[in-house]
Amino acid sequence: MRVLVTGGAGYIGSHTAVSLLERGHDVVLVDSLDNSSRTAVERITQIAGRQPSFHELDVRDEAALSAVFLEERPDAVIHFAGLKAVGESVAEPLRYYSHNLDSTFALLRTMTTHGVHNLVFSSSATVYGEGQEAPYAEDGGLLHATNPYGQTKVMLERILSDIAHADPRWNIALLRYFNPIGAHESGLIGEDPNGIPNNLAPYISQVAIGRLPQVGVFGADYPTADGTGERDYIHVVDLAEGHVAALDKLREPIGVRAWNLGTGRATSVFALIQAFEAACGKSIPYEVQPRRAGDLAQAWADTTRAETELGWRASRDIDAMARDAWRWQSQNPHGYAD
Ligand code: NAD
Ligand code: WQD
Repeated sequence: MRVLVTGGAGYIGSHTAVSLLERGHDVVLVDSLDNSSRTAVERITQIAGRQPSFHELDVRDEAALSAVFLEERPDAVIHFAGLKAVGESVAEPLRYYSHNLDSTFALLRTMTTHGVHNLVFSSSATVYGEGQEAPYAEDGGLLHATNPYGQTKVMLERILSDIAHADPRWNIALLRYFNPIGAHESGLIGEDPNGIPNNLAPYISQVAIGRLPQVGVFGADYPTADGTGERDYIHVVDLAEGHVAALDKLREPIGVRAWNLGTGRATSVFALIQAFEAACGKSIPYEVQPRRAGDLAQAWADTTRAETELGWRASRDIDAMARDAWRWQSQNPHGYAD
């Protein structure tokens, strides 16, 4: 297939581009480069041995996006582009709601105009909010996120479902990611957050490389085995392969369907720090701090549906995630800025 990837220079988009190229798909990357670098596009080509097309544009610029569709004639779209920082979304809800909704509306109108109806959408486990207990299953209950970023995912899932129900030509996969971490095993592409990382794994990496002094552990008094929060960390290459599997599924008429992409296993903050210590051969200083507002004690996926319907299963363990994250961090201490 010829696949247009919005946000294709970003963390998950760049790994997915490599998986798509390796599986023989043609790839068209569209990215504003607001939260990514042109170097990522060069590295994708270096790893895959094939070049994707690349268009630097904001998908909210509908005229420019339409020109790309006209030129590239994609069969399907994977939509990663958007804003994703939870704390920022609480501080600037209007910017988050308008960016994530407007960009998706512009994309959907452009797809409609050009007769493209196959879509894979980046959703998040954040849509499960506090309403359910782990493991989360796709049909376990009402979706309700606890922050504006997560609410944009809940809203867009609803909007995409309505669109698919109204017009049977649409085929839409909603992929709910758990906690993507790690990097491509080449060490050439990886996560490159702007400023101080919000998420645990890039924070640990930056402490390990000496950019930050210590990890703050947000609570060690949770009702979990070691008292720290437990999450379902998934290797970003497994996640990328999940997108290729979802795209294959769109060859059948599915209408709209949600799939969890996780491992089904939970790892604590302390266990993740230990895996990074083993990977980099150094001890990683940390300090236990108060809980972070809005955090759950535990979250992990029920992966049954993705295994049975997509024939996909995550295969890389926490040690591989830490090893590959460390290879990326140590080869690129300042990310793509090096
Ligand atoms: P990222 O910021 O690395 O990638 C997003 C890319 O989209 C960036 O390259 C950015 O420059 C681009 N972009 C943003 N707005 C754009 C626009 N209007 N037009 C064109 N390009 C635009 O983020 P990521 O971690 O790769 O996340 C990708 C998607 O997955 C997002 O939708 C995010 O909400 C979702 N997601 C991420 C996680 C996670 O933990 N990383 C978890 C669940 C869901
Ligand atoms: C993991 C664990 C923290 C940082 C977020 C978004 C979610 C999704 C993935 C996009 C928790 C603890 C963290 C630190 C810590 N993104 N922690 N010290 O919160 O599970 O999920 O990213 O859709 O929407 O909310 O991930 O990496 O921030 O936290 O102790 O410096 O690490 O309390 O237990 P989270 P995280």
